[in-house]
Amino acid sequence: MTDLEQLRQDLLGAIDAAAGLDAIEAIRVHALGKQGAVTGLLKTLGAMSPEERQLTGPRIHALREAVTEALSERKEMLERKAMDARLASETLDMTLPVDLVPPGTVHPVSQVMDELAEIFADLGFAVASGPEIEDDWRNFTALNIPETHPARAMHDTFYFPEVEGAEHRMLLRTHTSPVQIRTMMMQKPPIRIIAPGRVYRSDSDATHTPMFHQIEGLVIDKGITLGHLKWTLETFLKAYFERDDIVLRLRPSYFPFTEPGAEVDVGYSVVNGKRVIGGDPSKGNGGWMEVLGSGMVHRKVIEACGLDPDEWQGFAFGTGVDRLAMLKYGMDDLRPFFDGDLRWLRHYGFSALDVPTLSGGVGA
Ligand code: PHE
Repeated sequence: MTDLEQLRQDLLGAIDAAAGLDAIEAIRVHALGKQGAVTGLLKTLGAMSPEERQLTGPRIHALREAVTEALSERKEMLERKAMDARLASETLDMTLPVDLVPPGTVHPVSQVMDELAEIFADLGFAVASGPEIEDDWRNFTALNIPETHPARAMHDTFYFPEVEGAEHRMLLRTHTSPVQIRTMMMQKPPIRIIAPGRVYRSDSDATHTPMFHQIEGLVIDKGITLGHLKWTLETFLKAYFERDDIVLRLRPSYFPFTEPGAEVDVGYSVVNGKRVIGGDPSKGNGGWMEVLGSGMVHRKVIEACGLDPDEWQGFAFGTGVDRLAMLKYGMDDLRPFFDGDLRWLRHYGFSALDVPTLSGGVGA
């Protein structure tokens, strides 16, 4: 057997026996590296006679090719084996619940807004929004609160400085009702929207903060009556408080943008010394709690938005989101809602995975 044939057998045998990628690399360097055995043979070609080179050259090249091919085959095989082993050892059960709870908590106000959107979506309401910096026409005038109306003063409005030549005075909206105006001017009836958001009034004590949250509801269609309003609010409050024994009382009241207007009380009962929404308000220490302002949309408001009040009618309602959160989740002070105290947020906050759904219970 020639030296060449011996070398070939040695190398191919070693490659075959190589147990890992390190061994493969060592053999490659030993055979094909700068100081390698095969490389050394290739270098001898230069010193050969043409006849000798013609005879030996192809054999050396063939050896290099065979070794190169054997190395890559063995390498591929070892890599595949390593991958198979990894796949066998690293299993992931996709049916298990996630164990990673996202950091932080969802603020009760955000959670309640999501709950409300879920409840009203089920009744066919879309979510609308408007800017917190509003003009006095949409916040007041179009809502039938003219310049001299005492309701303007009652709202404790934060005004921006007057701008000379500007058509309207800008302000921080004092309620979400201007979204009624924006919606009626922007889209054709029938309309069914809710509009949650921040509102501002210059007022501050245990139950009032200069910024708080409201949610507005608006329905505009043909032949809408107070009956539709009452059914909608009853259905909403039953879903929100997750009780069937919710009773409502509509009391005549005055809002410039409604006619007639009604304040809505919800019945509460007293359980272990605590007021809970629902139950019989006429029993024990039960009673009524005011939760909403509402009414049929005033003709003048519908007209101000460019719609014909003889053709289109509807109802609107508005309520405080923070207050709804307090009533459902048992906070008794409003101010910590906006303090950003991590202890309060951890106590009253919700997991980001706790997405409100009607099927799972909106407040699960
Ligand atoms: N905008 C009223 C408020 O802030 C609430 C309301 C809305 C009343 C819609 C009636 C209809 O007090």
